[in-house]
Amino acid sequence: MLGTMAVPLGLLLALLGCTAALDLALEEAWEGWKSLYAKEYTREAEAVRREVWEKNLRRIEQHNHEESRGQHTFRLAMNHYGDMTDEEFNQLLNGFTPARQEEPVLLFHASAALKTPAEVDWRAKGYVTPVKNQGHCGSCWAFSATGALEGLVFNRTGKLVVLSEQNLIDCSRKLGNNGCHGGYMTRAFQYVRENGGLNSEHIYPYLATDTSSCRYNPQDRAANCSAIWLVAEGSEAALEQAVATVGPVSVAVDASGFFFHFYKSGVFSSMFCSKQVNHGMLAVGYGTSQEGGKNVSYWILKNSWSEVWGEQGYIRLLKGADNHCGVASQASFPLL
Ligand SMILES: *[C@@H]1O[C@H](CO)[C@@H](O)[C@H](O)[C@H]1NC(C)=O
Ligand SMILES: *[C@@H]1O[C@H](CO)[C@@H](O)[C@H](O)[C@H]1NC(C)=O
Ligand SMILES: *[C@@H]1O[C@H](CO)[C@@H](O)[C@H](O)[C@H]1NC(C)=O
Repeated sequence: MLGTMAVPLGLLLALLGCTAALDLALEEAWEGWKSLYAKEYTREAEAVRREVWEKNLRRIEQHNHEESRGQHTFRLAMNHYGDMTDEEFNQLLNGFTPARQEEPVLLFHASAALKTPAEVDWRAKGYVTPVKNQGHCGSCWAFSATGALEGLVFNRTGKLVVLSEQNLIDCSRKLGNNGCHGGYMTRAFQYVRENGGLNSEHIYPYLATDTSSCRYNPQDRAANCSAIWLVAEGSEAALEQAVATVGPVSVAVDASGFFFHFYKSGVFSSMFCSKQVNHGMLAVGYGTSQEGGKNVSYWILKNSWSEVWGEQGYIRLLKGADNHCGVASQASFPLL
């Protein structure tokens, strides 16, 4: 008799998933989160999003509980991505795919003779614009590239000019970049070099979409670039020398993990971080901090997920630990 009643296991699991009870104690927190980030859903969507949000919240609380017992060097926090699963997040935001380099570039190697300072922070020297927000568009590569170009412009002119990601998104397709669906910092630099300039954000504002055509205005040449350098692949020593001597450097990291998505503060390291890089960021410095009586070295990376994420938009990522998260795997910078 039992046999006739059997329900296929797959179906049973699916049914359970649909009827998972929401935690009523979180009602106020959920309403507060929705209003803070101006989220609006249809009735059906709300139940699904609430479930995802609760799951994320529990994982964040679990991690922070472990952190308070000394098990981690960084904390997490709920943010504006709280209603997204890891898969959705990665599909939307991680817009960098490593590619074979076809363009001739210059290779930056570590030099044994060069002594670098113990700490570098280009923000303090005026090289770095405020943290931006890429929105729901996989354009991290464009934000990483403008960050390096903004530093270069500051070095040459003494002026900090916010540069246009939309200019790169709309105009560098022919070089193999794919707008909100990913691209390469080196090809963004290549566009600026071939185009003979890049517009400012002011005259070419960000739209977070990739459906408009190129509107580059040659009257506003806010940046330019004549050489593209790649940092020796995987060498944190070379990356340190580049950051210390050049200025902010474009890097790519593996940002696909839950812990990265909800990072809030501290020195980030995760056993789930691989060297398969998928997200463009900007290395603006490095340093060392005391964590539980030990010196822990870190990179300071600027992100484009708004100031809500991380340490006012930045992450401190473990440095000198076998190229953690692939930070030195695809580093590059433009020069004049
Ligand atoms: C630009 O970089 C050069 C070489 O690294 C440095 O000597 C110079 O002081 C920098 N200029 C500014 C304005 O930071
Ligand atoms: C870049 O721009 C600066 C000032 O805007 C100019 O002096 C320089 O010649 C330009 N360099 C190239 C390679 O176009
Ligand atoms: C940590 O670094 C400081 C200064 O860089 C040094 O004086 C100290 O000895 C280091 N501590 C450890 C435990 O390595």
